[in-house]
Amino acid sequence: MPMLKTQSTSLPNVNPKLIVSDQAKTNMGGCVSFYTAQLLLIFLAVSSSVVNCCPPSERAALLAFKAALHEPYLGIFNSWTGNDCCHNWYGVSCDQETHRVADINLRGESEDPIFQRAHRTGYMTGYISPAVCKLTRLSSFTLADWKGITGEIPRCISSIPFLRILDLIGNKLSGDIPPDIGRLHRLAVLNIADNNISGAIPPSIANLSSLMHLDLRNNRISGPIPGSVGRLRMMSRALLSRNQISGTIPSSISMIYRLADLDLSMNQISGMIPASLGKMAVLATLNLDFNKLSGPIPASLMNSGISNLNLSRNMLEGKIPDVFGPRSYFTAIDLAYNKLSGPIPRTLSAASYIGHLDFSHNYLCGRIPDGSPFDHLEASSFAYNKCLCGKPLRAC
Ligand SMILES: *[C@@H]1O[C@H](CO)[C@@H](O)[C@H](O)[C@H]1NC(C)=O
Ligand SMILES: *[C@@H]1O[C@H](CO)[C@@H](O)[C@H](O)[C@H]1NC(C)=O
Ligand SMILES: *[C@@H]1O[C@H](CO)[C@@H](O)[C@H](O)[C@H]1NC(C)=O
Repeated sequence: MPMLKTQSTSLPNVNPKLIVSDQAKTNMGGCVSFYTAQLLLIFLAVSSSVVNCCPPSERAALLAFKAALHEPYLGIFNSWTGNDCCHNWYGVSCDQETHRVADINLRGESEDPIFQRAHRTGYMTGYISPAVCKLTRLSSFTLADWKGITGEIPRCISSIPFLRILDLIGNKLSGDIPPDIGRLHRLAVLNIADNNISGAIPPSIANLSSLMHLDLRNNRISGPIPGSVGRLRMMSRALLSRNQISGTIPSSISMIYRLADLDLSMNQISGMIPASLGKMAVLATLNLDFNKLSGPIPASLMNSGISNLNLSRNMLEGKIPDVFGPRSYFTAIDLAYNKLSGPIPRTLSAASYIGHLDFSHNYLCGRIPDGSPFDHLEASSFAYNKCLCGKPLRAC
């Protein structure tokens, strides 16, 4: 749409009072208010149509969204008045060119002056109105850390075609993940952690081909991880801990070659750990603790790029693979509370770094090797085993 020129130089014969002032221009961020535009149209006989910043239908959708929520302490919605939702509506911003609502960014924990003045974090009740789905150019929707918002994630959310960020962390949302969430093919961030979401992970999630960051932590999600998650080739963080997820770890996960952080801890996951996890290019953190995993620890995990490995509180058995080497660099390796037997591997002294180590509460037996990785470890790292001896435990 053609924008009206607002410089007096380009409109030499017009009464300057009818020209949008610089002050007004700044307030409107480049949009021309309908009233001023009409005056200009009359005086200049410009035949083009003029953009009003907030389309009335989007304003109506935002007001319906606001009406379903109750925010008693900060007054963040007090600014949601007047016609132009694109300017000075707290947390709302519009696309510069289309003048359609592009972002809703409402965080209950923020450095914003509105929070500092109130000396508190946010609290909000109510629910997410499906009216938000009428904002069809919405790219980012954040309604995070308000603690008291209940109800479900509106199903229609999966029909907002340009959505890139969906961040609803830290509320009390219940119900399940919309089954056709996979339609959001631009979605890069899906964060619904710290809610009360139940049901299974919908298989359509594997269709989120732009997904980079998945955070479902601390909900009541059950059922298996869909076997096709390996199709999420852009994903770098997958955080699913503290749910009731069952089934096995799909080996297709190891095809996600950008995955750096995989957290499946505190679930009901069973079966064996796929050895292919140790072959992943950039996997640095692997947390599988507090599940029902069984079988041996794959040797590949011990000399991979993984630097933060937590396999504690499972039912893993067999020996700790004796394949540590210069590639083994662990800020933390926690194998406690399993059924591991045999000796502490000799090659562990060849690891380039071991920060925190916990092999306690297993059935290990034999002499603890000497060497620099062991110098700083305490007895608690080896406590409650079958018959370990040597420094830092009692002499053999
Ligand atoms: C979580 O949701 C269930 C219904 O799905 C409800 O019974 C329960 O009270 C909710 N828990 C919390 C803490 O809101
Ligand atoms: C994934 O997308 C394809 C193509 O749009 C579709 O045919 C398929 O049903 C989708 N898969 C799921 C599980 O939704
Ligand atoms: C590993 O997981 C267990 C159980 O969830 C937890 O208690 C422990 O602190 C974790 N270890 C490390 C090193 O973070």
